[in-house]
Amino acid sequence: MSELVNRAFRLRQRPVGRVTEKDLELVTESVPDLQPGQALVRTLYLSLDPTNRIWMSEKPSYLPPVEIDAVMRGVAVGQVVESRRDGVKPGDHVTGMLGWQEYAVVGDGATDVTVLPDPLPAPVTAFLGVLGHTGISAWLGLNNIGRVKPGDTVVVSAAAGAVGSVAGQLAKKYGAARVVGLAGGEAKCRHVIEDLGFDDCVDYKREDWRDRIDAATPDGVDVDFENVGGEIMDHVMSRLNLHARIVLCGMISQYNSDGGGDSWAGQRAIGEMIMTRSTMSGFVVLDHADQFPAAIDELAGLWAQGKLKADETVVEGFEQARDELNNLFDGRNTGKLLIKVADPG
Ligand SMILES: NC(=O)c1ccc[n+]([C@@H]2O[C@H](COP(=O)([O-])OP(=O)(O)OC[C@H]3O[C@@H](n4cnc5c(N)ncnc54)[C@H](OP(=O)(O)O)[C@@H]3O)[C@@H](O)[C@H]2O)c1
Repeated sequence: MSELVNRAFRLRQRPVGRVTEKDLELVTESVPDLQPGQALVRTLYLSLDPTNRIWMSEKPSYLPPVEIDAVMRGVAVGQVVESRRDGVKPGDHVTGMLGWQEYAVVGDGATDVTVLPDPLPAPVTAFLGVLGHTGISAWLGLNNIGRVKPGDTVVVSAAAGAVGSVAGQLAKKYGAARVVGLAGGEAKCRHVIEDLGFDDCVDYKREDWRDRIDAATPDGVDVDFENVGGEIMDHVMSRLNLHARIVLCGMISQYNSDGGGDSWAGQRAIGEMIMTRSTMSGFVVLDHADQFPAAIDELAGLWAQGKLKADETVVEGFEQARDELNNLFDGRNTGKLLIKVADPG
């Protein structure tokens, strides 16, 4: 056994509602010796994602549920500290499903990783956000499903979050006449308009949020980039124009419901799609690896020219991960929520 000590979060039971210490236990354990074909990676930044909550439930999704007692699944960037794997050397930056742990064994018989370019073209955190799975999700949803046309009105829910902030900015670049965000609180809405360039933003925590959505979309809605689901989505659907497109990216309002998303009220306004001959399509970013290079190319170009803002909320300390995941559901983050686990070597 290596002398290194690993801290990891292991799933002990399936959460009901918010995640507790009993559900996700922080343990200290030794790091196994490397086998041929493997490398040891030190986690630098851990991505906290709404889907983490889905993976903890026993409901089958696009990935199998995390097994009880297993290290919690999670996307991270890290740095190789030791390698017995061809093509991977100490110091390399890598990204992949390193899990909620400080050290991960990767390679043969373990999870695979992607080696990031050297030198890094952007801060390493960008590979979990604007140039990672959340930025790419925004790009995929708009290009494959939303297909924004000049003159369109686009509504983006969770607009101040990782996916939503990029989706709204891209929709403007693609020629939307009006991009309206939905976000929790006045300060977030101000940020969405003033810093991210949305045309308007509705604070869905206000009592009159329905009237405000109506007022913000005087010409109806052509594209709904949906991150939230539930009653907010229902109301946006009541505003659909003819041949509108609904990009069903996520439904965070449902993930914490008892049973981890198994039981929820359901959408009520689906019938609007018949009257408006609209289409709705879900997607999962993992299915579209063939489009990642095109997405990253465009996103990196815009980012490098200063035309795409990449908000991040970085919280120091691996031990904060469980509480911070709950905070994601309270909207305490702006942009991509990351845990800083270690400094680069
Ligand atoms: N399909 C895919 O492949 C894919 C990939 C990545 C993410 N997603 C989905 O995209 C959505 C956004 O993910 P993200 O990583 O970018 O997270 P995020 O938007 O950075 O964080 C989640 C945000 O959702 C808002 N929120 C939380 N609970 C809510 C509720 N009950 N009602 C309304 N808003 C709520 C909060 O903002 P406020 O302060 O504004 O409430 C919070 O900041 C999620 O649904 C996620 O599952 C899908």
